[in-house]
Amino acid sequence: MNDKLAIIGTEAEEKISGCRSLAELEALRVLYLGRKGELTELLKSVSSLPSEERPSFGAATNRLKARIGELLDARKSALSAVELESRHSQEALDFTLPGRQSFAGHRHPLSQLLEEISDIFHGMGFSVAEGPDVETSWNNFDALNTPQNHPSRDMQDTFYLNNDQSLLLRTHTSPVQIRTMLSQKPPVRIIAPGRCYRRDAIDASHMPVFQQCEGLYVDKKASLADLKGILNYFAHQLLGEKIKIRFRPHFFPFTEPSVEYDFSCLFCGGQGCRVCKQSGWLEISGAGMVDPNVFKNVGYDPETCQGFAWGLGLERVAMLRYGINDIRLFYQGDMRFLKQF
Ligand code: PHE
Repeated sequence: MNDKLAIIGTEAEEKISGCRSLAELEALRVLYLGRKGELTELLKSVSSLPSEERPSFGAATNRLKARIGELLDARKSALSAVELESRHSQEALDFTLPGRQSFAGHRHPLSQLLEEISDIFHGMGFSVAEGPDVETSWNNFDALNTPQNHPSRDMQDTFYLNNDQSLLLRTHTSPVQIRTMLSQKPPVRIIAPGRCYRRDAIDASHMPVFQQCEGLYVDKKASLADLKGILNYFAHQLLGEKIKIRFRPHFFPFTEPSVEYDFSCLFCGGQGCRVCKQSGWLEISGAGMVDPNVFKNVGYDPETCQGFAWGLGLERVAMLRYGINDIRLFYQGDMRFLKQF
């Protein structure tokens, strides 16, 4: 019987020291010390021994049990250390990896431009007025002295929203002139930025949705010279002192006299180049003295007040400023384009 104990002891020692994982070790513990383990079974057989042999065999078995217990414990702590080590090396943070940067967006180039424009006019005492994109025909056309048969009223040019054509998507920001004058008495100094809509086919210089920034000045006295001074100052602030400005006669139903205004070409300084089609000038937008009929329509007395108004196409100015040759780029959301601003 003692031989058997010796065999079990050597075998257990070998198996425990060769054991590679905690799970394997647990299996060995069950094998030797478990309720149905080899040593337990041996102890059970003590009763079949002659009585004088029983005490020494029992004691030897218990010693072996204790010995195996110690071996298991020692191996367990060694294996735990190894397993912990390997888990750490697998899960460890690698501080040499490049960081994941969060992506910070920024304002759209047209919004940035509008902010600059607003700043410049704030400096001259103008505040920002707003109106809705859905307008009445009266604000968009009638109050602005636009005759019934004017081509801009044509269904081909304007998005109407109902059958009697009393509601539409505004075709310019000029109806904000009307809204402002209806809601306050002179003097008036506002700019009115916003989206406008026209039934244009999309190409490099046309979009059915685009943005304008209107300006309106009304006081007891105002002149074309004041208008030119303001636009001149604005051009210098936005594009530099070298920019010149010129007026060309034009017609708008809501201004009299009316002009179109040009900036001297940013690219050639007025010498003539491809961008300005050799003219030295870039068309910007329309302007003029507020027509007395418009004053009457909003309840202002044309005898005691004078005013001027002007338009500005945001995309057009941004295109000139940054040398962009296709208006669609502003609206395609292409990061390669937007990231440049
Ligand atoms: N509303 C005109 C347009 O869209 C521009 C303009 C504004 C002209 C104010 C005169 C005065 O073309």
